[in-house]
Amino acid sequence: MQGTFITATGTGVGKTWLACALATACVQRGKRVAAMKPIETGCDPEPRDAIALAQACGNDSLANASGFYRAKDALAPYAIERRGGPKVGSLRALAKRIRELGKEADYSIVEGIGGVLVPIDREHTIADLGALLDLQTVVVARNDLGVLSYTLTAMEALRRRKISVRAIVLNHVERSSRQDLSRLSNREVLADYFPRIPVLRVPRVQSENDLVDAAVELYNTLKI
Ligand SMILES: Nc1ncnc2c1ncn2[C@@H]1O[C@H](COP(=O)(O)OP(=O)(O)OP(=O)(O)O)[C@@H](O)[C@H]1O
Ligand SMILES: [Mg+2]
Repeated sequence: MQGTFITATGTGVGKTWLACALATACVQRGKRVAAMKPIETGCDPEPRDAIALAQACGNDSLANASGFYRAKDALAPYAIERRGGPKVGSLRALAKRIRELGKEADYSIVEGIGGVLVPIDREHTIADLGALLDLQTVVVARNDLGVLSYTLTAMEALRRRKISVRAIVLNHVERSSRQDLSRLSNREVLADYFPRIPVLRVPRVQSENDLVDAAVELYNTLKI
């Protein structure tokens, strides 16, 4: 399966926005895309990310595909399991299902959940699903003070699992107009640490539709 696994340094950093923009860029170039969120929590009642992704690739049925994990509580799946809620079950079975759904498309976009080491059960994290899928991995990070340590931590965790990263995306999510000096050097510092990995910068925009340029840059970087 050709595709990308979109993971991040944490929750709310722009995985869904970027994944939707990338899906749109693919569709505009005539690709058939399957954009999926196989594990989603905080579904109250709908899986909002999965719906946005499914709409972006023009295949609404992907939002609620059978075999995908959905839970109401906005928690990590293992935290939900500990409260007596549903379990994710076999990651191998989930990866197989994702591949099946991906067969009908030229390119698959799979959003993780939260950051790289969200606990799925007592033994596994979302990175283990990423390793099973073996796609082009993209790490999204919030471009503000602190991102260097968050990104280095995420990269170490991925490397330990032999997941090679195709791109790091520094996304300007922060709403405040406060000057953050780190934004002037975050990209260059990370580029020094990872000279073989493209580090892309995404500006703050009004809506995900405005991320077209960023999505095209990522599209070209991934050689889709
Ligand atoms: N480049 C951007 N410019 C402006 N706002 C952004 C940008 N990227 C993300 N956002 C805002 O940040 C919010 C969180 O983004 P998004 O839902 O894509 O994060 P996520 O990493 O998918 O979160 P989750 O971990 O919940 O899946 C969005 O609702 C959007 O308002
Ligand atoms: Mg999301």
